[in-house]
Amino acid sequence: MIKIAPSLLSADVSCLGEEIKRLQKAGADMLHFDVMDGHFVPNLTFGPHILKGLKRQTDLPFDVHLMVENPETVVPWFIEAGADIITFHLEVCPEPLRLIELIHQHGRKAGLSTRPDTNVKLLETYGKFVDLILVMGVEPGFGGQDFRIDTPQRIMETKQIGGDFLIAVDGGVNFETAPLCVNAGADILVAGTAVFKNNAYADNIRILKGE
Ligand code: DX5
Ligand code: ZN
Repeated sequence: MIKIAPSLLSADVSCLGEEIKRLQKAGADMLHFDVMDGHFVPNLTFGPHILKGLKRQTDLPFDVHLMVENPETVVPWFIEAGADIITFHLEVCPEPLRLIELIHQHGRKAGLSTRPDTNVKLLETYGKFVDLILVMGVEPGFGGQDFRIDTPQRIMETKQIGGDFLIAVDGGVNFETAPLCVNAGADILVAGTAVFKNNAYADNIRILKGE
């Protein structure tokens, strides 16, 4: 069963609490928070304070995607704020195993991601330790970008890495590209534009799930 994680980057930030309730009713399986620091990517978004406030609005799992240069510093903040899944980028973490262990010590799930042009093989060492690998369908930083056509191939390569992790795909996932990701082996589809378009959250989620 494919799970859908709407990216709140595409939500109406003037009423995030309401948006979250609507997404839950519409069948979202978890909520994806794109945390950007203005350094790792040229954009700034949510911090732990916002996440903590929104935690009171829903019991859906909070899936935090850290696009920050110093994940070691901010991971404890997001643990404290109530993140359920915390994914960080391999490119900016010299000792991923220590950070994965810290996340697990607090009973949360740990995910690892890479930019699209980073060699998938670099993830091999960590496959046995992580709960999730987030395959980027676009260069991280912004919603609404075009899906990179090499993404299904990278999903298949990720699947070859030994380990008991789920594969999420993030960026450019829409009605046309979702089946390509699922066929390649994705378990979770992260989608911003495709979930929020036309205000038809439930229909969009259902179509993305292939129902
Ligand atoms: C990109 C983010 C994605 C993005 C997805 O840096 O990680 O989560 O919001 O947005 P869409 O679905 O619009 O490509
Ligand atoms: Zn993301």
